[in-house]
Amino acid sequence: MNTKLKSVDAIPGSLGLPIIGNLIDAFRHRELFYWQRYWQHGKIFKMSFLGENYVILADPEASRLVLKDRADNFSSRLGWKTLKPILSEDMVLLQDGAEHRTSRRLILPIFHQQAITSYFDIIKSLVESAVADWGKQETINLDAELRKLTLTVAVRIFLGSEKIEEIDRVRDLFTTLMTKANSAVIKWDVPFMAHGQGQTARRQIIEYILKVIQERQKLGDLDNAQDVLGLFLHTVDEDGRKFTEMQVANQALGFLFAAHETTATLMSWLLFELGNRPEWRDKLRDEYSGVVTGEIEMSHLRQLYQMTNVLKEGERLYPPVGVMIRGVLEDIEINGYHIPAGWNVMISAIFTHRLPEIYTEPDSFDPDRFAPPREEDTKYPYSLIGFGGGAHSCIGVEFAKMEMKLILGILFDNYDLVSAPLPSGVEYPIRRMVDNVTKLTAKLTPLQTDLQLSR
Ligand code: HEM
Repeated sequence: MNTKLKSVDAIPGSLGLPIIGNLIDAFRHRELFYWQRYWQHGKIFKMSFLGENYVILADPEASRLVLKDRADNFSSRLGWKTLKPILSEDMVLLQDGAEHRTSRRLILPIFHQQAITSYFDIIKSLVESAVADWGKQETINLDAELRKLTLTVAVRIFLGSEKIEEIDRVRDLFTTLMTKANSAVIKWDVPFMAHGQGQTARRQIIEYILKVIQERQKLGDLDNAQDVLGLFLHTVDEDGRKFTEMQVANQALGFLFAAHETTATLMSWLLFELGNRPEWRDKLRDEYSGVVTGEIEMSHLRQLYQMTNVLKEGERLYPPVGVMIRGVLEDIEINGYHIPAGWNVMISAIFTHRLPEIYTEPDSFDPDRFAPPREEDTKYPYSLIGFGGGAHSCIGVEFAKMEMKLILGILFDNYDLVSAPLPSGVEYPIRRMVDNVTKLTAKLTPLQTDLQLSR
């Protein structure tokens, strides 16, 4: 190890009190706790929670080192261990090294372009009926409606459930799992405690998925499967490995988790921004009507350049996975500091995306920053990391973009959407995106009486 390296003691920031570390401050100030440290210390700082030490990094070079160049020196399983009450270690995000590579290979067919194209019609019809439903309400809560839609899409596509009652039941169980398992401080698996209720919901979802898997097995014809569970069950890698039924169930549960809240949060904030910007709503509408002349098709999505830039701006300002966490397996040098094994690093999309040396006026909503000749995200690799990077990068990125484009296209083709003012105490630019997303509301007005939803 280079003797000129500075020790972790020299990293800006403080590890707080013994054992609890910075926990009290973080609870008190929520997301502002992190912003305050970023403003105070810049691109690298440290903190600690319950005996775990973290280095927060907001630097494209460091992101590339951790996520790609030296990825084997880091563990996603250790970094993301707080997700264990929700996900199983079978879930690809919680795997490392060779085990992770095998899972990725087995999962990839589900996200190949051809497979994604086959999901298009189902997602389109789910988006159309959700949008029509929003139109009937006077004011919609963006996060609640988008979560409902994205979870419905995930249950329908990843589990193949078609019956509304089944979709609703899995959605309710999943919501219980997320709220109870996440909120519980004491992790006792007993029915009268939040954690136990979350775990019961989790077991019921797994039971349901296993039942669906068995029905799918009975149907047979797995060799020609086009549906997600069928693809999962029949895919074998070059070494002859395939997932067991339990592994498929755990991966599928992981997909529900990875696919819905992320998409819903990004879309909620993006619709909030667009709901304040008539000029951008008009641009999106004009582009859409120029490209889509009859029924919207998959091939149209690629031609929606303005919409692509709007989505990138949503990803930049409101990255739902704000930090990517990794456990350090062996001592390593990062930005001139010696980071010992046992520490954790957090690659921060939130702060990287606001670096003024990369993005001009980083707090302003300006999708044109991604259009030629500016293309601000191309100055340095790993400048835009809302979908991660390297081995664990988001496997559902194309799926998510397709779903988000369908939502934007179908919504603005039929309605105008105006955001309600931010509730008191919430200021722009938004720093507390997780805490405030549930408060966003908007009003929809039909553009014409003859809606295009079923054209
Ligand atoms: C706007 C929507 C989404 C965003 C912003 C997003 C973001 C991310 C990010 C940042 C990661 C990397 C995490 C890390 O490196 O620690 C990730 C991983 C992952 N995402 Fe997404 N995601 C989205 C939608 C989806 C969808 C629709 C799916 C579909 C199932 C999905 C499935 C996954 C999976 C399975 C992983 C783990 C990959 C691995 O560990 O190899 N995501 N996502």
